[in-house]
Amino acid sequence: MKTRILILMLFSSFLVLNSCTKDEEATKPVATATPTSQTITSGAATSISLTSSVAATTFSWTVVQAGVTGATSGSGSSIAQTLTITGTTSGTATYSITPTANGTSGSPVSVTVTVNPAASSAKVTYTANIKTLLASSCTPCHLTGGTHPSKWDDYQTTKSKISGILDRVQRETTATGFMPAGGSKLSAENIALLKKWVDDGLLEK
Ligand code: HEC
Repeated sequence: MKTRILILMLFSSFLVLNSCTKDEEATKPVATATPTSQTITSGAATSISLTSSVAATTFSWTVVQAGVTGATSGSGSSIAQTLTITGTTSGTATYSITPTANGTSGSPVSVTVTVNPAASSAKVTYTANIKTLLASSCTPCHLTGGTHPSKWDDYQTTKSKISGILDRVQRETTATGFMPAGGSKLSAENIALLKKWVDDGLLEK
């Protein structure tokens, strides 16, 4: 008789335990991060909002940063952190966000933020950018030893002739005086670089 009661008690407690586990699974929060990936400029802040399938969910996150500083672990319903690259190239911060509701945690979701260098951070200079650009595009005519008297491997000459250079490289390829003579048009990026050199003050280095 005693054994039967014991078995009955064990069985019913098993049922209770089992149903408890099922209940918790049903309320496990599912996190949604918006957006799921983001690209920002160095010095700007992330803006990631966090929502869940279950009301009153809290979120906490950890982060792994590469080539970036400013990202920290934290909690809240949005991630707004100012990220800065540590070098001159792009870096990333990868957040792993865990939702918790009613003492139950859901699966973590991950958000990768790419941090690009600020476009205006580096000034265009003759030595760093322009000399190589013109040497490769205007060879051999406008280099020392070339047939044309204007030499782009000389800083002073290039600086004083920059408006002529910009005029010639932006002409139609079929127009008279188009430069590079007999060559193909400079890329939009390279023309933009020449213009930025002017905007940045025609620096030598
Ligand atoms: C194949 C030879 C050749 C190449 C390559 C060449 N040029 Fe010229 N360039 C000339 C000749 C020849 C003239 C003179 C005729 C004229 O003014 O169109 C000239 C004239 C110029 C002038 C006007 C003269 C001056 O001193 O201001 C500019 C500016 C110029 N080139 C810029 C360039 C640039 C920039 C490039 C490269 C993107 C380039 N050229 C590539 C042969 C060349």
